[in-house]
Amino acid sequence: MNADGRTRLNRTPEWTALAKHREELGEVRLRELFAADPGRGTGYTLRVGDLYVDYSKHLVTDDTLRLLRELAVATDVSGLRDAMFRGERINTTEDRAVLHTALRAPRDAVIEVDGENVVPGVHAVLDRMAGFAQQVRSGEWTGHTGRRIRNVVNIGIGGSDLGPAMAYEALRAFTDRDLTVRFVSNVDGADLHEAVRDLDPAETLFIVASKTFTTIETVTNATSARSWLLAALGDEKAVAAHFVALSTNAEKVADFGIDTANMFEFWDWVGGRYSFDSAIGLSLMIAIGPDRFREMLDGFRIVDEHFRTAPAEANAPLLMGLLGIWYNNFHDAQSHAVLPYSHYLSKFTAYLQQLDMESNGKYVGRDGREVEWQTGPVVWGTPGTNGQHAYYQLIHQGTKLIPADFIGFARPVDGLSDELKAQHDLLMANFFAQTQALAFGKTPDEVRGEGVPEELVPHKTFKGDHPTTTILARELTPSVLGQLVALYEHKVFVQGAVWNIDSFDQWGVELGKVLAKRVEPALTEGADVPGLDASTKALVAAYRELRGR
Ligand code: F6P
Repeated sequence: MNADGRTRLNRTPEWTALAKHREELGEVRLRELFAADPGRGTGYTLRVGDLYVDYSKHLVTDDTLRLLRELAVATDVSGLRDAMFRGERINTTEDRAVLHTALRAPRDAVIEVDGENVVPGVHAVLDRMAGFAQQVRSGEWTGHTGRRIRNVVNIGIGGSDLGPAMAYEALRAFTDRDLTVRFVSNVDGADLHEAVRDLDPAETLFIVASKTFTTIETVTNATSARSWLLAALGDEKAVAAHFVALSTNAEKVADFGIDTANMFEFWDWVGGRYSFDSAIGLSLMIAIGPDRFREMLDGFRIVDEHFRTAPAEANAPLLMGLLGIWYNNFHDAQSHAVLPYSHYLSKFTAYLQQLDMESNGKYVGRDGREVEWQTGPVVWGTPGTNGQHAYYQLIHQGTKLIPADFIGFARPVDGLSDELKAQHDLLMANFFAQTQALAFGKTPDEVRGEGVPEELVPHKTFKGDHPTTTILARELTPSVLGQLVALYEHKVFVQGAVWNIDSFDQWGVELGKVLAKRVEPALTEGADVPGLDASTKALVAAYRELRGR
């Protein structure tokens, strides 16, 4: 029993039952499962909003799914979910509520934190963002010299970059093509250099996005951006027309020199990696316009409602979370691939890496004890079909089990020529072919049947039984993007709840930040930094020698 009154996860009867079931199932053959149940291809599917989710190609039976749902009941996933939606402080190590769902709540909803309804504040900021976005889009908001803004540069990192950058790419077809929108995150000066080198400062708006406004990369880049601007415009007053801030920290924003009248706020109950539908989405809202942004929020809300109310058997985030646990904890899978067949989703998996790995990359449980089970997987992937010509070989014939999500769309986005639109069927033929090949493979006899010489038969055989989820939607719209992101947010939630970890803190990134600050004087001034280990000391010396000063 834990301090929190819970039985340790791996000692619960539900966990033990799953382990036993896994042993009894042995090597699952998808060919056999499909042969035994002709309805599997349609039966093992769900519809959530505009998403069609097919989980038939998983190494599971009805019994597996039932046992997984029983594990979710035993670990009270729905209890924690309801506490999250109610605004309870479920982020225990930071003593905070976790309310990204309030960011997309309707105007008349009531969600209280410490007795205060937060929804009016959410909509007040959304309305201010919409007003500002319209001013920029219409040309009413002008730069210091009176020229209209044509370039928007978001400066932020982690959750203050990945979300808006991903969504901007995803929704490019809906953006105002007359605006140039760029994202700067890396403290490597090359990032800012490349982002602004061809821009006219008089037409450039910087959006400094940082929840804490203390993140060294962001503050450093913002300072350099201000110098770049002032070098051209030569007047401190220019900052007011060219800099806005997105933050929870008004004091630090003011310290930096941005007028807090030009600050769009959010709240400590919004985690960085759950924040792009808050003020952090301002660059996106400027690009796609407030109406499209609200459509995206509606999409998030569809899945929030689904997650909150759908029965366990038909609850897509619950199911996806549990399937991940099946592979992670009972098949020893180490990673999870997310493979979008849409060029517009080129940054989707990178976005999910923070969402998933920063949330569930923990070895200490909510009870403060080390867990005795695997937690979050390595999340990786790039858009198809490119990956097919790079790493799919390992998924098909390597020695590792890699569960994968395939995300695809029935229609290309508007704006492509007819010839390019016609390529969409070829893209999607690959999409369907891959999950088919992964699931069912090719037997030695099938290979022989093609006249392949015997010595090559093992090489050309595909064992199959590589599990995939297919997520299909009609097209990639703002609403569909919101639905997809919410689906993954809640999937990650489910896994954290089962593993009994706090998915909403990120203490693991702190040590590196502290050490970077400590090491920096050794590089810049050659300072003798106490406590440097022998390896780092030698590396710093080599660096200084190579640098030549
Ligand atoms: O270093 C991790 C982190 O704290 C993320 O969780 C966060 O998204 C990112 O840094 C940026 O933080 P901020 O928005 O406060 O600049």
